[in-house]
Amino acid sequence: MADTQPTVAPTPNDGEDATLSSLDAGTLPVDALPEPARMALAAYRAGLAETPNGGPVPADTPVVVAWAPGRANLIGEHTDYNLGWALPVALDRVVAIAGRPTATPAFSLYSTHHTRSARYAIPADLANAAVDRALPYWARYLQGVWRELARLGALPPVAQAAGMTAAIAGNVPVGGGLSSSAALEVAAATFAQALGAPALAPMALAQLCQRAEQWSVGARVGVMDQAASRLGRPGHALLLDCRSLAYEYIPFDLPDVALAVYDTRVPHTLATSGYNERRSQCEQAVALLTPILQRETLGRTVASLRDVTADDLVRHGAALPATLLRRARHVVSENARVLAAVAALRASDAATLGALIYASHASLRDDYAVSCAELDAVVEIAREAPGVLGARMMGAGFGGNVLALAQRTALPALEARLAVEYPRRTGRVGELRVCQIGGGPQYATVKDG
Ligand code: GLA
Repeated sequence: MADTQPTVAPTPNDGEDATLSSLDAGTLPVDALPEPARMALAAYRAGLAETPNGGPVPADTPVVVAWAPGRANLIGEHTDYNLGWALPVALDRVVAIAGRPTATPAFSLYSTHHTRSARYAIPADLANAAVDRALPYWARYLQGVWRELARLGALPPVAQAAGMTAAIAGNVPVGGGLSSSAALEVAAATFAQALGAPALAPMALAQLCQRAEQWSVGARVGVMDQAASRLGRPGHALLLDCRSLAYEYIPFDLPDVALAVYDTRVPHTLATSGYNERRSQCEQAVALLTPILQRETLGRTVASLRDVTADDLVRHGAALPATLLRRARHVVSENARVLAAVAALRASDAATLGALIYASHASLRDDYAVSCAELDAVVEIAREAPGVLGARMMGAGFGGNVLALAQRTALPALEARLAVEYPRRTGRVGELRVCQIGGGPQYATVKDG
């Protein structure tokens, strides 16, 4: 196997329309906005519209509300930073920001989730600012997005010497592996676009948000979460080629099948979760394999685990320390599973998709070692429930959510079984959420703000 290629390779998407979809809430009933957008608007009006942040600029600026979705990943875990394949979907759950630019160069922010305010005085040299460690994480993400926009010279004109006052609300569970942080970053970048910032191509916007996350948290995350949030499309999964950054929409055409996520309520923090350690182990495996593979095939390029095949690992795996071999084996086999999952989706073959999802969990547990007892327990409970086709831990791991692919008719029994068995086996109480595949970011201006 020279290289794993999808049945239909995604084509580069350079020509993609960069325009974000906007609504005009001045002519729409506010009821038509997603609930978090309404909550953010209400919080802005209730507490922030009058905060002493220099007043809005210009004085009659409408309130802008922007929102972006969290994501679930069908398959392709810990492949993105190895330049492989991933197959996420955007969720029908969003993070929203409502507010206005203000004359004082400071962020005055309020989070309805944390019921907490944060203030950040924007330095003149924002592009080279350091992380403000006095800020809570959620505010650092905004600081990061604004800083990246400044680095690109892509701040909205109105914000160049000014700040903003804004409220944040959302219904993406926080800290549970559904990428509430990516949703917040993409919502912030969309907010900037709504204020007239230069248009950014969708993948460029996702990469900007990825850099903001890396900078804010210090985790060397890949682009999957931000790309899924920016590019999600209802009824479709997003096949991402994380090397070329090409992508393709794969219809999720399984009407009898539901996606459910079970929150183990084991919090995970990327920064402390061994994420960076896994990433550097992959780099070490590439560094050790490269000279060996190049001796074997003169001129062969080995830039990442994307360039390594299962056969390579069979022939030369013994040259790697056992841990590095396991890490590499996960990434190489997971890439193959993504492409097999795409073929299964195209064939509306839910059983095969489910089997691949179970296999992904086993690989993440045994080879990549990013699962935990609670995640494993949920996968086992799901496996015992009739009508469940597949289940696996999702996202960075070490806690967070399990994704289950189940017959719709099997959901009540699955929920009942989890409600009894998960507390019995782990001593914890979790939560099952049935998800719909949602669309990408949007914004609205609210004329009466
Ligand atoms: C986190 C990161 C992503 C990806 C996943 C694991 O969600 O933000 O870039 O690496 O973990 O697949």
